[in-house]
Amino acid sequence: MQGLTSLPPARQAACCPVTTVSSSSSCSWRSRGRGRVAGRRRVFPAVSAATAIEVRDLSFSATGRNGRVVPILRDCSLQVPAGQLWMLLGPNGCGKSTLLRVHSSSVLAGLLNPTSGTVCVDGPTSFVFQNPDHQVVMPTVEADVAFGLGKFNLTAKEVRYRVRGALDSVGMSKYLKIPVQTLSGGQKQRVAIAGALAEACKVLLLDELTTFLDETDQIGVIKAVRNSVAGPGGVAALWVTHRLEELKYADGAFCMEDGRIVMQGDASSIANFLRQKQVPHLDFGF
Ligand SMILES: Nc1ncnc2c1ncn2[C@@H]1O[C@H](COP(=O)(O)OP(=O)(O)OP(=O)(O)O)[C@@H](O)[C@H]1O
Ligand SMILES: [Mg+2]
Repeated sequence: MQGLTSLPPARQAACCPVTTVSSSSSCSWRSRGRGRVAGRRRVFPAVSAATAIEVRDLSFSATGRNGRVVPILRDCSLQVPAGQLWMLLGPNGCGKSTLLRVHSSSVLAGLLNPTSGTVCVDGPTSFVFQNPDHQVVMPTVEADVAFGLGKFNLTAKEVRYRVRGALDSVGMSKYLKIPVQTLSGGQKQRVAIAGALAEACKVLLLDELTTFLDETDQIGVIKAVRNSVAGPGGVAALWVTHRLEELKYADGAFCMEDGRIVMQGDASSIANFLRQKQVPHLDFGF
């Protein structure tokens, strides 16, 4: 766990200026309504080998129906190291999902007005959404995890190896031949995460995966993500949640308010910060 951190000086030369990529053509959707979304085709090198996601001074505005420009993200900066799970917390409407979507470049062209700042993501990115039923598209677990591998020109043996390895990481190996419609919501989420891992994604963006899950499924999903980041691939995860008891599983967290990152630090620092702010319904489980 890290203590409170301060951001190192900007090294923008290695980063992508967001103003140049707010186009749907730079975004590749995995297809057929699957919840996973590939990151930009262009992969920008991270600032250092240990940094998987770096966002610096990022601002986004949207134009409302009345033509008024509404700032959504204001000078947001954050870093997520490779091999770590960081959480993104904050009240409804503060900009968490928007920030994730900027990472994955899945904002449709025309929705956003001029933007400033830089986003660097180290390698392929996968986005997993809240609704488990939108995450899995194939009849069996094995077929679903293998679904995205067609584009890699792998042998059948290599596909089996990747599928099994990914399912191992999320604790779902024994469900290989099981029909996906028989899985619980959390198990479907874990299959979706396995699909991303099978495709060798380096960055997992996870938006309120556990909102509709019971405690057993919640713990299963979060442990699957923890295990994924602990693996040899150096995967980094950014996890949006309202369930504060999940904080104890994080290497660190960012708090957002009104489009800004107002705090970052390890779990206990964030817990203290939220206690001081007297955020209602606090239950960190520690
Ligand atoms: N295209 C858009 N046009 C206008 N306003 C938008 C647009 N996209 C997002 N917003 C507004 O930006 C704010 C942030 O939205 P966002 O979905 O990122 O919040 P959030 O923190 O994820 O909230 P929640 O916790 O409820 O999921 C909201 O007030 C939302 O209405
Ligand atoms: Mg949201």
